[in-house]
Amino acid sequence: MSDILKFAKSVAIEAGDMIVKEREAANLSLEFKAGNELVTSADLKADDLISNRISVSFPGHLILSEESAPDVGNVSKITDPLWIVDPIDGTVNYAHGHAQSAVSIAYAESGKVIVAVVYNPFTAELFSAEAGAGAYLNDARISVATETELKRAIIATGFPYDKTNLPPMINRVGKILTECADIRRLGAAALDICWVAVGRLDGFYESLSLWDFAAAQLIAREAGAQYGHFSEVPEGISPEFHCQDILVANPALYGKLHNILVGT
Ligand code: IPD
Ligand code: CA
Ligand code: CA
Repeated sequence: MSDILKFAKSVAIEAGDMIVKEREAANLSLEFKAGNELVTSADLKADDLISNRISVSFPGHLILSEESAPDVGNVSKITDPLWIVDPIDGTVNYAHGHAQSAVSIAYAESGKVIVAVVYNPFTAELFSAEAGAGAYLNDARISVATETELKRAIIATGFPYDKTNLPPMINRVGKILTECADIRRLGAAALDICWVAVGRLDGFYESLSLWDFAAAQLIAREAGAQYGHFSEVPEGISPEFHCQDILVANPALYGKLHNILVGT
Protein backbone atom coordinates (compact mmCIF):
# COMPACT_ATOMS: atom_id res chain seq x y z
CA MET A 1 0.00 0.00 0.00
CA SER A 2 1.40 3.42 -0.94
CA ASP A 3 2.14 6.05 1.69
CA ILE A 4 -0.47 8.30 0.05
CA LEU A 5 -3.18 5.65 0.49
CA LYS A 6 -2.14 5.02 4.11
CA PHE A 7 -2.32 8.75 4.76
CA ALA A 8 -5.70 9.16 3.00
CA LYS A 9 -7.17 6.26 4.99
CA SER A 10 -5.95 7.58 8.32
CA VAL A 11 -7.28 11.09 7.63
CA ALA A 12 -10.66 9.75 6.44
CA ILE A 13 -10.96 7.62 9.59
CA GLU A 14 -9.97 10.54 11.82
CA ALA A 15 -12.52 12.86 10.15
CA GLY A 16 -15.16 10.11 10.11
CA ASP A 17 -14.77 9.39 13.81
CA MET A 18 -14.99 13.09 14.51
CA ILE A 19 -18.30 13.51 12.64
CA VAL A 20 -19.78 10.54 14.53
CA LYS A 21 -18.84 12.17 17.85
CA GLU A 22 -20.20 15.55 16.75
CA ARG A 23 -23.56 13.99 15.95
CA GLU A 24 -23.66 11.96 19.17
CA ALA A 25 -22.90 15.10 21.17
CA ALA A 26 -25.96 16.67 19.52
CA ASN A 27 -24.23 20.02 19.17
CA LEU A 28 -24.56 20.42 15.43
CA SER A 29 -25.50 23.78 14.04
CA LEU A 30 -27.23 23.86 10.66
CA GLU A 31 -27.13 26.43 7.89
CA PHE A 32 -28.40 26.56 4.34
CA LYS A 33 -25.99 27.74 1.65
CA ALA A 34 -27.26 28.98 -1.72
CA GLY A 35 -30.83 28.91 -0.39
CA ASN A 36 -31.50 25.21 0.23
CA GLU A 37 -28.20 23.33 0.42
CA LEU A 38 -27.71 22.07 3.96
CA VAL A 39 -24.31 22.46 5.65
CA THR A 40 -23.64 21.52 9.27
CA SER A 41 -20.92 22.63 11.67
CA ALA A 42 -19.48 19.10 11.28
CA ASP A 43 -19.05 19.57 7.50
CA LEU A 44 -16.95 22.65 8.23
CA LYS A 45 -14.98 20.97 11.03
CA ALA A 46 -14.25 17.89 8.90
CA ASP A 47 -13.21 20.06 5.96
CA ASP A 48 -10.85 21.97 8.27
CA LEU A 49 -9.36 18.82 9.74
CA ILE A 50 -8.73 17.13 6.37
CA SER A 51 -7.38 20.29 4.69
CA ASN A 52 -5.03 20.95 7.63
CA ARG A 53 -3.71 17.39 7.67
CA ILE A 54 -3.03 17.56 3.91
CA SER A 55 -1.31 20.94 4.01
CA VAL A 56 0.91 19.91 6.92
CA SER A 57 1.95 16.59 5.32
CA PHE A 58 2.07 17.81 1.69
CA PRO A 59 2.68 21.58 1.77
CA GLY A 60 2.94 22.03 -2.02
CA HIS A 61 -0.21 20.10 -2.95
CA LEU A 62 -3.40 21.74 -4.20
CA ILE A 63 -6.66 21.06 -2.40
CA LEU A 64 -10.17 21.19 -3.87
CA SER A 65 -12.57 20.81 -0.96
CA GLU A 66 -16.32 21.40 -0.93
CA GLU A 67 -16.56 23.74 2.05
CA SER A 68 -13.22 25.63 2.10
CA ALA A 69 -11.91 25.58 -1.50
CA PRO A 70 -14.68 24.61 -3.93
CA ASP A 71 -13.11 26.30 -6.96
CA VAL A 72 -9.57 25.74 -8.20
CA GLY A 73 -10.32 26.50 -11.85
CA ASN A 74 -10.38 23.94 -14.66
CA VAL A 75 -9.33 20.73 -12.93
CA SER A 76 -8.72 19.03 -16.30
CA LYS A 77 -5.79 21.41 -16.80
CA ILE A 78 -4.19 20.77 -13.41
CA THR A 79 -1.24 18.39 -13.59
CA ASP A 80 0.22 19.15 -10.15
CA PRO A 81 -0.69 16.92 -7.19
CA LEU A 82 -4.31 17.62 -6.29
CA TRP A 83 -6.54 16.42 -3.43
CA ILE A 84 -10.30 16.38 -3.99
CA VAL A 85 -12.30 16.26 -0.77
CA ASP A 86 -15.94 15.95 0.24
CA PRO A 87 -15.78 16.22 4.04
CA ILE A 88 -19.29 14.76 4.42
CA ASP A 89 -21.07 13.26 1.46
CA GLY A 90 -24.67 12.71 2.46
CA THR A 91 -25.06 15.75 4.71
CA VAL A 92 -28.86 15.58 4.70
CA ASN A 93 -28.67 11.96 5.87
CA TYR A 94 -26.09 12.95 8.45
CA ALA A 95 -28.22 15.75 9.89
CA HIS A 96 -31.28 13.49 10.02
CA GLY A 97 -29.60 10.64 11.89
CA HIS A 98 -29.31 8.26 8.92
CA ALA A 99 -26.30 5.96 8.56
CA GLN A 100 -25.59 6.63 4.87
CA SER A 101 -22.88 9.33 4.94
CA ALA A 102 -19.19 9.26 4.15
CA VAL A 103 -15.91 11.14 4.01
CA SER A 104 -14.54 11.13 0.46
CA ILE A 105 -10.87 11.80 -0.39
CA ALA A 106 -9.28 11.47 -3.84
CA TYR A 107 -5.69 12.16 -4.82
CA ALA A 108 -4.74 13.01 -8.42
CA GLU A 109 -1.37 13.29 -10.13
CA SER A 110 -0.80 14.37 -13.75
CA GLY A 111 -4.55 14.85 -14.16
CA LYS A 112 -5.54 11.33 -13.05
CA VAL A 113 -7.01 10.15 -9.76
CA ILE A 114 -4.63 7.47 -8.49
CA VAL A 115 -5.71 7.04 -4.85
CA ALA A 116 -9.26 7.01 -3.50
CA VAL A 117 -10.88 6.52 -0.11
CA VAL A 118 -14.59 6.68 0.82
CA TYR A 119 -15.24 6.00 4.51
CA ASN A 120 -18.64 5.52 6.12
CA PRO A 121 -17.94 5.81 9.86
CA PHE A 122 -21.50 4.80 10.77
CA THR A 123 -21.07 1.33 9.25
CA ALA A 124 -17.26 1.15 9.64
CA GLU A 125 -16.96 0.56 5.90
CA LEU A 126 -13.85 1.91 4.21
CA PHE A 127 -13.80 1.66 0.42
CA SER A 128 -10.44 2.28 -1.21
CA ALA A 129 -8.53 1.91 -4.44
CA GLU A 130 -5.23 2.66 -6.08
CA ALA A 131 -5.03 2.91 -9.85
CA GLY A 132 -4.15 -0.48 -11.27
CA ALA A 133 -4.29 -2.27 -7.91
CA GLY A 134 -7.99 -3.14 -7.51
CA ALA A 135 -10.67 -1.90 -5.12
CA TYR A 136 -11.25 -2.90 -1.51
CA LEU A 137 -13.95 -2.75 1.15
CA ASN A 138 -11.96 -2.75 4.39
CA ASP A 139 -9.42 -5.54 3.70
CA ALA A 140 -11.44 -7.50 1.12
CA ARG A 141 -11.09 -7.12 -2.63
CA ILE A 142 -14.42 -6.13 -4.22
CA SER A 143 -15.99 -6.42 -7.65
CA VAL A 144 -19.18 -5.36 -9.36
CA ALA A 145 -22.33 -7.47 -9.60
CA THR A 146 -22.82 -9.82 -12.52
CA GLU A 147 -26.49 -8.99 -13.25
CA THR A 148 -27.12 -8.84 -16.98
CA GLU A 149 -30.87 -8.21 -17.13
CA LEU A 150 -32.31 -4.74 -16.75
CA LYS A 151 -35.51 -6.15 -15.32
CA ARG A 152 -33.56 -7.56 -12.36
CA ALA A 153 -31.31 -4.50 -11.92
CA ILE A 154 -31.46 -2.06 -8.98
CA ILE A 155 -30.38 1.42 -10.06
CA ALA A 156 -29.58 4.36 -7.79
CA THR A 157 -29.76 8.05 -8.57
CA GLY A 158 -30.00 11.36 -6.78
CA PHE A 159 -31.44 14.81 -7.19
CA PRO A 160 -29.84 18.26 -6.85
CA TYR A 161 -30.67 20.80 -4.14
CA ASP A 162 -31.64 23.21 -6.92
CA LYS A 163 -35.11 22.18 -8.10
CA THR A 164 -35.46 24.57 -11.04
CA ASN A 165 -35.09 21.87 -13.71
CA LEU A 166 -36.92 18.78 -12.45
CA PRO A 167 -38.75 17.56 -15.61
CA PRO A 168 -35.73 15.78 -17.23
CA MET A 169 -34.98 14.04 -13.93
CA ILE A 170 -38.56 12.88 -13.50
CA ASN A 171 -38.53 11.67 -17.10
CA ARG A 172 -35.37 9.60 -16.44
CA VAL A 173 -36.83 8.10 -13.28
CA GLY A 174 -39.90 7.05 -15.30
CA LYS A 175 -37.77 5.41 -17.99
CA ILE A 176 -35.48 3.61 -15.55
CA LEU A 177 -38.40 2.44 -13.42
CA THR A 178 -40.16 1.11 -16.52
CA GLU A 179 -37.16 -0.94 -17.68
CA CYS A 180 -35.42 -1.92 -14.43
CA ALA A 181 -36.42 -3.77 -11.24
CA ASP A 182 -36.34 -0.75 -8.95
CA ILE A 183 -34.73 2.55 -8.01
CA ARG A 184 -32.91 3.68 -4.85
CA ARG A 185 -32.26 7.27 -3.67
CA LEU A 186 -29.85 6.67 -0.82
CA GLY A 187 -28.62 10.26 -0.40
CA ALA A 188 -24.83 9.97 -0.68
CA ALA A 189 -23.47 9.77 -4.22
CA ALA A 190 -19.98 8.64 -3.18
CA LEU A 191 -21.53 5.66 -1.39
CA ASP A 192 -23.98 4.97 -4.23
CA ILE A 193 -21.01 4.57 -6.57
CA CYS A 194 -19.09 2.45 -4.04
CA TRP A 195 -22.22 0.30 -3.70
CA VAL A 196 -22.06 -0.31 -7.46
CA ALA A 197 -18.40 -1.26 -6.92
CA VAL A 198 -19.30 -3.82 -4.27
CA GLY A 199 -22.30 -5.20 -6.18
CA ARG A 200 -25.10 -3.94 -3.90
CA LEU A 201 -26.39 -1.84 -6.79
CA ASP A 202 -26.22 -2.58 -10.52
CA GLY A 203 -25.96 1.00 -11.72
CA PHE A 204 -25.99 4.67 -10.76
CA TYR A 205 -26.54 7.92 -12.66
CA GLU A 206 -26.65 11.59 -11.63
CA SER A 207 -25.10 15.00 -12.33
CA LEU A 208 -22.75 15.83 -9.47
CA SER A 209 -19.93 18.03 -8.22
CA LEU A 210 -16.39 16.73 -8.58
CA TRP A 211 -15.90 16.13 -4.85
CA ASP A 212 -18.95 13.82 -4.80
CA PHE A 213 -17.51 11.26 -7.22
CA ALA A 214 -13.74 11.82 -7.72
CA ALA A 215 -12.79 9.08 -5.27
CA ALA A 216 -15.73 6.72 -5.83
CA GLN A 217 -15.33 6.58 -9.62
CA LEU A 218 -11.78 5.18 -9.26
CA ILE A 219 -13.04 2.66 -6.69
CA ALA A 220 -15.83 1.61 -9.08
CA ARG A 221 -13.51 1.34 -12.10
CA GLU A 222 -11.00 -0.68 -10.10
CA ALA A 223 -13.86 -2.99 -9.07
CA GLY A 224 -14.66 -3.61 -12.74
CA ALA A 225 -17.41 -1.05 -13.30
CA GLN A 226 -17.78 0.92 -16.49
CA TYR A 227 -17.81 4.68 -15.85
CA GLY A 228 -18.85 7.30 -18.38
CA HIS A 229 -21.52 9.82 -19.34
CA PHE A 230 -24.85 9.68 -21.16
CA SER A 231 -24.26 13.05 -22.82
CA GLU A 232 -21.18 14.30 -24.63
CA VAL A 233 -18.11 15.29 -22.64
CA PRO A 234 -17.06 18.77 -23.87
CA GLU A 235 -13.68 19.08 -25.55
CA GLY A 236 -10.87 19.97 -23.18
CA ILE A 237 -12.59 18.35 -20.18
CA SER A 238 -11.20 15.09 -18.84
CA PRO A 239 -14.01 12.49 -18.63
CA GLU A 240 -12.67 11.61 -15.20
CA PHE A 241 -13.58 15.09 -14.00
CA HIS A 242 -16.75 15.76 -16.03
CA CYS A 243 -19.66 16.18 -13.62
CA GLN A 244 -22.74 16.10 -15.89
CA ASP A 245 -24.80 12.97 -16.63
CA ILE A 246 -22.49 10.46 -14.99
CA LEU A 247 -23.30 6.79 -15.45
CA VAL A 248 -21.60 3.96 -13.54
CA ALA A 249 -22.68 0.36 -13.94
CA ASN A 250 -21.47 -3.17 -14.25
CA PRO A 251 -20.20 -3.66 -17.82
CA ALA A 252 -23.08 -5.95 -18.83
CA LEU A 253 -25.63 -3.25 -18.06
CA TYR A 254 -23.73 -0.05 -18.91
CA GLY A 255 -24.67 -0.01 -22.60
CA LYS A 256 -28.31 -0.85 -21.90
CA LEU A 257 -28.62 1.92 -19.30
CA HIS A 258 -26.79 4.32 -21.60
CA ASN A 259 -29.36 3.59 -24.33
CA ILE A 260 -32.21 4.42 -21.94
CA LEU A 261 -30.67 7.64 -20.67
CA VAL A 262 -29.02 9.11 -23.76
CA GLY A 263 -30.94 12.07 -25.16
CA THR A 264 -33.09 12.50 -22.04
C1 IPD B 1 -25.00 15.30 -2.15
C2 IPD B 1 -25.21 13.82 -2.07
C3 IPD B 1 -26.49 13.42 -2.76
C4 IPD B 1 -26.51 13.88 -4.20
C5 IPD B 1 -26.27 15.37 -4.29
C6 IPD B 1 -24.96 15.74 -3.58
P1 IPD B 1 -23.69 16.44 -0.09
O1 IPD B 1 -23.77 15.67 -1.54
O2 IPD B 1 -24.13 13.12 -2.66
O3 IPD B 1 -26.67 12.02 -2.77
O4 IPD B 1 -27.77 13.57 -4.74
O5 IPD B 1 -26.20 15.68 -5.67
O6 IPD B 1 -24.79 17.13 -3.64
O7 IPD B 1 -24.32 17.77 -0.29
O8 IPD B 1 -24.40 15.61 0.89
O9 IPD B 1 -22.21 16.52 0.10
CA1 CA C 1 -21.36 15.45 -1.71
CA1 CA D 1 -20.57 17.46 1.23
